Amino acid sequence: MTISNSVIDRGKLGNVPALTERADEAFLDFMCDARNIVMHAHHRPISDLGNKAIAAAGLKPVHTHENVAKIREVIFDTPEVAAYLRFKRSAQERYKQRIIESYGVREEELTRWLDDAATRGPGTLTLDPNFKYPDYATVDIHITPHGYTGHALSGFYYDYGTSIFFGGANAGDVMHASHVARVSTPRDGKVTRTLDIACSVGQMVSQTKKRFPDAEAHGIDISAPMVKYAHWRAVQQNLDLHFAQMPAEEMTFPDGHFDIVTSYLLFHEIPLPVIKKVLAEVKRVLRPGGTFTMLDFPSSRPEEPGYGGFIGLMDSSDNGEPYAHGFVHCNIEKLIEEAGFKLRYTGVKDILKHGRVCDKPV
Ligand SMILES: C[S@@+](CC[C@H](N)C(=O)[O-])C[C@H]1O[C@@H](n2cnc3c(N)ncnc32)[C@H](O)[C@@H]1O
Repeated sequence: MTISNSVIDRGKLGNVPALTERADEAFLDFMCDARNIVMHAHHRPISDLGNKAIAAAGLKPVHTHENVAKIREVIFDTPEVAAYLRFKRSAQERYKQRIIESYGVREEELTRWLDDAATRGPGTLTLDPNFKYPDYATVDIHITPHGYTGHALSGFYYDYGTSIFFGGANAGDVMHASHVARVSTPRDGKVTRTLDIACSVGQMVSQTKKRFPDAEAHGIDISAPMVKYAHWRAVQQNLDLHFAQMPAEEMTFPDGHFDIVTSYLLFHEIPLPVIKKVLAEVKRVLRPGGTFTMLDFPSSRPEEPGYGGFIGLMDSSDNGEPYAHGFVHCNIEKLIEEAGFKLRYTGVKDILKHGRVCDKPV
């Protein structure tokens, strides 16, 4: 008798492939709930406590090496905050590692899934085999082993990982569906071609196609593993989407090609000089009258410290968000206008509701 050592495919949870064993999923469910209870429910009071403690010590959440070291001392004398930050980091390390270990058992099979889907439709996948990643794109962002670009299964890791990161709130891509529902359209209403930049596993692209079924839907990402997985995911759902590996600061699309461009959580993850180049490229590939919706962190303003307070600072210093601080303090609205866009809304409340809606003048 031959005993097979292949592992049973346990199907999918929504659009995400299930982990190898139920025990892995039970652990991940526990981590998800624990993060919800400890972190998400306590974000605001912990944030207030930390901001108060550093203000009482005469410090500001400014990102210099010396200042961060002083803030760390103050925070570690504030036990609730110290415990919160320790939990945050350890939970993140542990749940990410378990996902990698679990899918890792089936690495050959999952890699074959991606390769087999690469030439199948509907939709297309375009890879750049000679692409050399810039250094900024190879960091282990969010302390994710291999980052976005360093492992053939990075798309699998990201898809399962974000379902935990967002506290289970993105089952069936509902979160992305609500983001796409608030994407602004060009003032003339014409939408024939859409582009999502830094699309990761393609959730914005698939939801955009659902909202604009007659339009051609494209997604680009710098990471080959991400777009390979995004294409596999779309093939699984029989969706006609177009994915390509491409850096947003150097796109190969012609001028004026798109009516709508979207980005969700890209800009706080790239360095400032790249932010400026991406804005210029987005403007180039949009047609006159086209609209870019940028969904990302709030900027730091006196009336809305948001991610600009010490939680954001600690994420940037200790939690694998090396570029976030630069974004939060860069005055992105000014950079958007300098790139030649007209911002549809400038008030904090409107920006929180609609994102940064950037019209390319006609
Ligand atoms: C936080 S994820 C974006 C989330 C995604 N937009 C979504 O809808 O879930 C950041 C993504 O940006 C990609 N990325 C980073 N730098 C990029 C660049 N210069 N051009 C295109 N993609 C980039 C990464 O590979 C990663 O997939």
